[in-house]
Amino acid sequence: MTARKIIIDTDPGQDDAVAILLALASPEEIEVLGITAVAGNVPLALTQKNARIVCELANRTDIPVFAGCDAPLKRKLVTAEHVHGKTGLDGPTLADPKMPLQDAHAVDFIIETLRAHPAGTVTLCPLGPLTNIATALQRAPDIAPRIAEIVLMGGAYFEVGNITPAAEFNIYVDPEAADIVLKSGAKITIMPLDVTHKALVTPHRNDAFRALSTPVGEAVALMTDFFERFDKEKYGSEGAPLHDPCVTAHLIQPDLFHGRHINVEVETTSELTLGMTVADWWGVTDRPRNATFMGDLDADGFFTLLTERLARL
Ligand code: BDR
Ligand code: CA
Repeated sequence: MTARKIIIDTDPGQDDAVAILLALASPEEIEVLGITAVAGNVPLALTQKNARIVCELANRTDIPVFAGCDAPLKRKLVTAEHVHGKTGLDGPTLADPKMPLQDAHAVDFIIETLRAHPAGTVTLCPLGPLTNIATALQRAPDIAPRIAEIVLMGGAYFEVGNITPAAEFNIYVDPEAADIVLKSGAKITIMPLDVTHKALVTPHRNDAFRALSTPVGEAVALMTDFFERFDKEKYGSEGAPLHDPCVTAHLIQPDLFHGRHINVEVETTSELTLGMTVADWWGVTDRPRNATFMGDLDADGFFTLLTERLARL
């Protein structure tokens, strides 16, 4: 099996960090061409820094990290320090990164990488608001048919919303960008809250990260301890959902996930339901199918994979 070439577009965020670590721990399946940061959980100055901190944690200072858009296409940035803490990576004490930020803009890197590789060989993995990806598609429409697949974390249908009663955070922050991506014609796989809320870090699962007794295992356990506080209180659940690693786990072991190829659209005008992903799960319209929308996860298999792979770093 040749490794899939991917670009991770991200707003770290503790769960983004775990998603990146999983990718970097899996070179047989995944080749990370670069990491592009976007404003989301925290402002861009922190997300680009956090992306480099995570690369250094994995001893992968060779991965190029680019800064991208610092605000959504048409709206003011909404952030989530209430979940992720002031830095976005609150929990462990991690040193400031020494590896440099690349000079190029993330959007240019995305466009140039897709043009430089044969069509259908580069997969995009957005883990935050879709601003960088939509900007690339707007600026260079020729890249859409060159994208192998977009595997993204965002949206919800049965679980509805986590930042408003109707909307999931990544889509809510930049609904116009999500609309552009969903209408791009690219092959799309979506990890909505419907599946990520099944990836719960129970105390037993977090103990397994800690028991790795490595800097990575310790850091992941501490990151999870931190953002769990908020989610446990909110959902009354045993642990917090590990959203973004569902994206990179899907690249490694797709049979952990089940979903449907359906029509998915995003609300961009209503004040009440702004950013809601309307998924035609039951096939009640004849709107074109544009995405595989995941709904189920083998949670034990997911955590086994994650723990085994993190142990390699
Ligand atoms: C998404 O929002 C962010 O807070 C997480 O990193 C994840 O990408 C979950 O709604
Ligand atoms: Ca994220």
